[in-house]
Amino acid sequence: MSEQTEFQDRLLSLGLARVSEAAALASAKLVGRGDEKAADQAAVDAMRTQLNLLDINGVIVIGEGERDEAPMLFIGEEVGTGTGPGLDIALDPLEGTTLTAKDMPNALTVIAMAPRGSMLHAPDVYMDKLAVGPGYETDVVTLDMSPAERIKALAAAKGCEMADITVCVLERPRHDEMIDELRTTGAAIRLITDGDVAGVMHCAEPDITGIDIYMGSGGAPEGVLAAAALKCMGGQMYGRLMFRNDDERGRAAKAGIKDLNRIYSRDELVTKDVIFAATGVTDGSIVNGIRSEPGFLTTETILMRSKTGSVRRMSYRIKT
Ligand code: FBP
Repeated sequence: MSEQTEFQDRLLSLGLARVSEAAALASAKLVGRGDEKAADQAAVDAMRTQLNLLDINGVIVIGEGERDEAPMLFIGEEVGTGTGPGLDIALDPLEGTTLTAKDMPNALTVIAMAPRGSMLHAPDVYMDKLAVGPGYETDVVTLDMSPAERIKALAAAKGCEMADITVCVLERPRHDEMIDELRTTGAAIRLITDGDVAGVMHCAEPDITGIDIYMGSGGAPEGVLAAAALKCMGGQMYGRLMFRNDDERGRAAKAGIKDLNRIYSRDELVTKDVIFAATGVTDGSIVNGIRSEPGFLTTETILMRSKTGSVRRMSYRIKT
C-alpha cells in the first residue's frame, strides 16, 4: 500500500478535529434558540465543507440518513478530495439537536474515521446498547442478562454494593420497565433526555462522570459512533439491532445485514483502528461547550486514536 493510500491516522487526526470544530462553531449561534433543524443544518453544512478539504477517499457509512432522505452527508456519499486513503466515515454533525435548541448539557459534534470496510453499516433503527468502562473482565455484563443481573455482576466485579453503582439511561417511556427493575437493586440512575453517544462515553471515565454502566435502546448509528469512542477510550460495549416493522427489517437487508438478532461487540461494530473527534456544543462532562467572549469563540474537542489509546482535549480559539 502506498503511503498516500494508507490510513495515516496520526496525521489525519488533526484534520478530523478541524471537521468537528467547524460543525460546533457553525451551530454556536443556534444554541438555546429553539430551532433544532437550523442548528443541525448549520452543523451539517460546515462539517461537509471541512470534510471535503481533507485528502481522503471517504465514504459516509453512518450519516444523516439514506440518500433520498438527506441531501448532504447521506449514507454512501463520497467525501474528501478523493486522493488519499479509502476510509469509512461515521458522523453525527449535531448529536443532541434538542439539547442544542434548549441549551441543555452534552450536545456534541461527532465524527470517526477508519479504514474502508471496518464499520458496521447500521441502518436507522434502534439498537439495544450496553456499555461499561475499562478494567473489567470481558463479558462482565451481557445483553442477555436482565438489568438487575447486570448491576449485581458489575457490583461484584467492582467490589462494591449495588447501591454504589450508577447507571445511565435515556429517559423514554420504552425504558420505564427497565428503570423499575433497576430501582429494585438500589443503584442510582442518571437519566438523560438525549445524547447516548455521550451517555456511553461517560462509562469510560467513571471517576469524572460518576457513571459505571450505560444501558437501553437508542439510535443504531449513534451506537457505532459510541463503539468507535470506546475503542479509543477503553471499555466494553454491546449492541443488538431492534426492528419494529418490515420497513426497518428492509433497511437492515439493504445495509447487507443478514443475522437480525446478532449481538455485536465493540470490536465488531468497528473492526479496525479508528480515530474519533467530538467537540462540545453545550457544556458537558466530556468536554466544555462553546465559549463566547467579545471578538472570540472557543471550542473544546476530544480527539482520540484507538491504535495508541491517546486521548487529547484540545482548546481552539478563533476570532469572530
Ligand atoms: P438527535 O441529535 O438526532 O436528536 O438524536 C439524539 C438522540 O438522543 C440520540 O443520542 C439517541 O440515540 C436517539 O436520539 C434516541 O432516539 P429517540 O429520541 O427516538 O429515543
